[in-house]
Formats: sequence, C-alpha cells, structure tokens
Amino acid sequence: MGDRAVAVVTKATRGLQGELTVPGDKSISHRSVMFGAMANGTTSIRGFLPGDDCLSTIDCFRKMGVEVQQTDDTVHVRGTGLDGLKEPNEVLDVGNSGTTIRLMLGVLTGRPFHATVAGDASIAKRPMARVTEPLKELGASIEGRDHGNLTPLSIRGGGLTAIHYTSPVASAQVKSAVLLAGLQARGTTTVTEPEATRDHTERMLEAFGVKVTRNEKTVSIEGGQSLEACDIDVPGDISSAAFFLVAASIVEGSDVILKKVGLNPTRAGIIDVLSEMGAQLEIENEKTTGGERSGDIRLRSGKLAPTTIGGSLIPRLIDEIPVLAVLATQLDGTTVIRDAEELKVKETNRIDTVVRELSKLGADIEATEDGMVIHGPSQLSGGAVDSHGDHRIGMALAIAGLVADGEVEIAGSEAIAVSYPRFFEDLRRLQGRKSEGALLTSDKFWSDGRSSPNLT
Ligand code: S3P
Repeated sequence: MGDRAVAVVTKATRGLQGELTVPGDKSISHRSVMFGAMANGTTSIRGFLPGDDCLSTIDCFRKMGVEVQQTDDTVHVRGTGLDGLKEPNEVLDVGNSGTTIRLMLGVLTGRPFHATVAGDASIAKRPMARVTEPLKELGASIEGRDHGNLTPLSIRGGGLTAIHYTSPVASAQVKSAVLLAGLQARGTTTVTEPEATRDHTERMLEAFGVKVTRNEKTVSIEGGQSLEACDIDVPGDISSAAFFLVAASIVEGSDVILKKVGLNPTRAGIIDVLSEMGAQLEIENEKTTGGERSGDIRLRSGKLAPTTIGGSLIPRLIDEIPVLAVLATQLDGTTVIRDAEELKVKETNRIDTVVRELSKLGADIEATEDGMVIHGPSQLSGGAVDSHGDHRIGMALAIAGLVADGEVEIAGSEAIAVSYPRFFEDLRRLQGRKSEGALLTSDKFWSDGRSSPNLT
C-alpha cells in the first residue's frame, strides 16, 4: 500500500456559504471515455472528472490503442471504432474502479482478442460473477478465481449471440455490461432489472447514435450498430454534491449554491429525501444537454425530520447513503435505511464501515441485514477514524467532523481522490477559508488550513 494520508477536520465555527461547482459526474465521465473509444471520430468531453477512477478508464483504453488527450478539464478521445480496439499487451489495471472493470468487461466480451483485467485490493474482493455469468452466456470465455467471480480475470471475446437477461440485482453496472456486449452480438439483447437503476448508458448511447428501446425496467439493444463521435458536457456529480448538501443541512447558518449538478431522475434520490425531510432546497437554471438534466441547487440549513429510506429509492441514492447516515445522526428521531444489501459489495462493506466508524465518534447507529438504523440527535465527539480506502467513507467522516466536538482524524484520506481530488479545497472554500494546495498524499492535513508540523 502507498503512503496513507491523515486529514484532520475541525468543527465548523460558522455556516457554509457561497457557490461551488462540484467536479464532473463519475459515471458519465467513465462512459464518455469508453463510448468515445468505441466510436468513429473524435469525442470531446468537457467537465471530465480527473479522479483516479476515471483516469484508470483512460489508461485501460490507451492500452487498447486508443489515443486520449487531456487539456484542462477537456478530454479528447480519438475513437477507433469497435473493430479498431487492439489486444492489450499488458494487464488492464482498473485500480479501485468497479465501473471500469464491469463495463469494460462488457466491451471486451465482443472483442476477438485476449485481455487480463485486475485492480486493487478492494476490487479483488468484489463480486464479478454478476457480470461474468451473463457475459459468458452471450459467448465470451472468461476465467478467474472462484469460477470467474474474482479478479484477476482473463477474457477472450467475440462470436456473440443475443440473450434476454433478467438480473437478480439492481445494478447499472450489470445492465450496462450486458448492453455493451449486446451491441456486439447477433440479434437483440434485452436486460430486465428488479428496480430501475441509473440510465446514463442508455442516454449516452443514444447521444452516440445508437438506438436503445426502453420499457420501464427493461432495456433492449440490437447488435451491429456503430457509435458516432459526439461532444459531451459532463454535469457536476450529485454524489459529490451530496457531501455539501448534507454539510449545509447540519451546520447552522449555511446557505450554499452548487452549480450545474446532474439531476438525472435515476440519480436524484437525495433531493427527494432532503425535500421530504423538510430541507430548504431550491433548484434553479435547469437545463438538459446530451440527454442529461442539470441545475443549480441552493440549500439553506434548517430543521430536518428523520424518515425511512428503502425500496425503489435505494438505487437512486445508493452512493449517498454513507453521508445520509451522518445527516441522520443529527436529526431528532430514528432514521431507517433498508433494502440496501448492495452496500455490502461496494468499495468496502459500507454497512459495516459506516456503522463502525460513526460509532467511534459517538453515533447511536446499528447495522441491520439490509441497512442501518440511526437514532439522533447525537453530539458527535472527535476521534481517530479510518476511510478503509473508501473515498465516500472518507468524505462522509469529514462532514461528520464539521459537527463533532474535537478533531476528527481520518486515516486513509488519500482515497478521496478516487472521485473528488479537490474535496478539501472545496470544503475550505465554502467555509470561507483560503484554499492551499491539493490533498497531500501523506502526512497530516488540517481542514482549517493549519499546516502539518511534520512539513515545516
Ligand atoms: C455505477 C453504478 C452503481 C454505483 C457506482 C457507479 C455506474 O454501482 O454504486 O458508484 O456508474 O454504473 P452498481 O451498478 O453496482 O449498483
């Protein structure tokens, strides 16, 4: 393991104020590179998220012969067309990124060459059978530990026949992997899911000129269609905005505007929950580009009421649950999160890590089979916690630090760069503090701007 950073977050002494543009959406950034690579022509991606996960996607496609250039926040992908992707002569390393590995396996399923895919220690524990099983049904040959469930995986694709896959899990990664393989199969491939999941793949394929048929929880794609390059404008990531939405909700005197945040209805569950809790939330300047809705979200602090979060709402806010748990610790009453077993197979087991780490700060929180129950309000205390290498756990703990008495020391805070490299700078900005430098890769980093004694 590389150097571990420790971020120290101190209690907010006044409300968060001001405007912020959060970084580009992670799901959309990944797809724009992959689809750009598979397309004919050059795709320009504005607002691309330069987080570690999306950089892994760029790296993997470069290893298949795709030229990618980065200038500021714009990425240009010179597509090779599906048939132009080349057999990689190195392992395709996805780092920490589940989206990279699962969607890329869908692409590789149709390619008549060999590839080996692997990632970090977290990826090595995450279930891949959810994609390798249907992809084998389409015709790919895939081998790996635990009968093709665990990385490293080796794959040889090509010669595919369409399937109708009924997925047992509500997962956009599974749906997308099967659709990307189906695009390269003979016949029409259909995926039916138990609950509707994020539909960025469907919307972006349409933007690239591919016809996709949709009916509630079922999506179909006809094989043999080609992708034509287009320009993509990536909206801000609502999953990143979520940390500041919660921060502004619980730090008294806050009034923040988060600009141009993605508001795709399959992702915007947190807006529904905050509104139901009674948040003072307004959406302005709504617009739709490339099939994706975005807008500015204004949120002012105020008293919120607890609720139960479950059912079809879960896939619409699955990545926001760690920070919603932090919010729940500050509400007067009981918040229940249920139907969220999928949390167990994220970057960490997020039921375990959220419960364990928030308990260290004095939260009244217990794990259940499919979620958690949180009793509030709790006056959180300072303490030493750990991200466990999970970016969203690291950021959720930082937000907890804003309302804790005493310093919250977050070990493994470097993981935050997976989805939000400038997180602490943006947090400081909303706190009206001078921003200095990026997240350090080792040593201590204080959210209130003190520099580490070890650096002087
Ligand atoms: C993602 C889908 C979700 C989400 C992940 C990104 C995507 O995972 O948790 O952060 O971009 O398709 P699942 O498909 O496993 O639910």
